[in-house]
Amino acid sequence: MITLALSKGRIFDDTLPLLRAAGIEVLDDPETSRKLILDTNQPDVRVVLVRATDVPTYVQYGGADLGVAGKDVLIEHGGEGLYQPLDLKIAACRMSVAVRADFDYQAAVKQGSRLRVATKFTTIARDHFADKGVHIDLIKLYGSMELAPLTGLADAIVDLVSTGNTLRANHLVEVEQIMDISSRLVVNQAALKLKREPLRRLIDAFASAIPT
Ligand code: ATP
Ligand code: PRP
Ligand code: MG
Repeated sequence: MITLALSKGRIFDDTLPLLRAAGIEVLDDPETSRKLILDTNQPDVRVVLVRATDVPTYVQYGGADLGVAGKDVLIEHGGEGLYQPLDLKIAACRMSVAVRADFDYQAAVKQGSRLRVATKFTTIARDHFADKGVHIDLIKLYGSMELAPLTGLADAIVDLVSTGNTLRANHLVEVEQIMDISSRLVVNQAALKLKREPLRRLIDAFASAIPT
């Protein structure tokens, strides 16, 4: 049995075409079913649905043989015990710094002001501002980061941006792009040895189906 961990939403949706290219059809629809273990047309392949941030944990400890997770999630997790053979190029976005339109970020940086930064991505934020030599107070949030500068909770946020619609809708502006983000295939290292043949076949099929 091969177990693939996916999160609901964009990662599940964008992984379906890759699975299809490998001859695998998922038989349940996570948007209508409450099932967390989904069967596929292959009796020896199943999909488990977990939170996006839990995918690396499931794969690391062997709760799943492989999974799909964003680069953001993998950096925050640390990637320990994970083999990362492929950038699948799906769920593409970028990690950015954003502030209120009326906050002069460049001036604050130049003056050496201490910045209050709210984010779910504390490792990425800490590394980014350390590289710039900017001192920060980090405020850990679990979502709705865009609200933090609007309520006075923080001067800046570090968050994912794709179209920019969420920033615009909340009168925030992107002042720095930290890195490009896309989702990767992650594989449990012990499974790679024990289930070498079927996992290799799956990895190769995914590799051939990656959008260019
Ligand atoms: P949860 O809803 O459980 O808090 P989440 O918000 O982390 O989870 P998703 O929104 O499905 O889960 O994001 C999964 C991954 O998709 C992220 O880790 C990131 O790599 C990528 N992603 C997030 N937002 C976008 C976006 N707007 N456009 C493209 N890719 C995105
Ligand atoms: C993500 C991210 C941003 C938004 C950026 O949220 O956290 O808020 O997308 O995308 P945009 O630049 O295209 O607006 P998501 O859609 O995952 O909602 P969530 O808050 O439920 O995670
Ligand atoms: Mg999200």
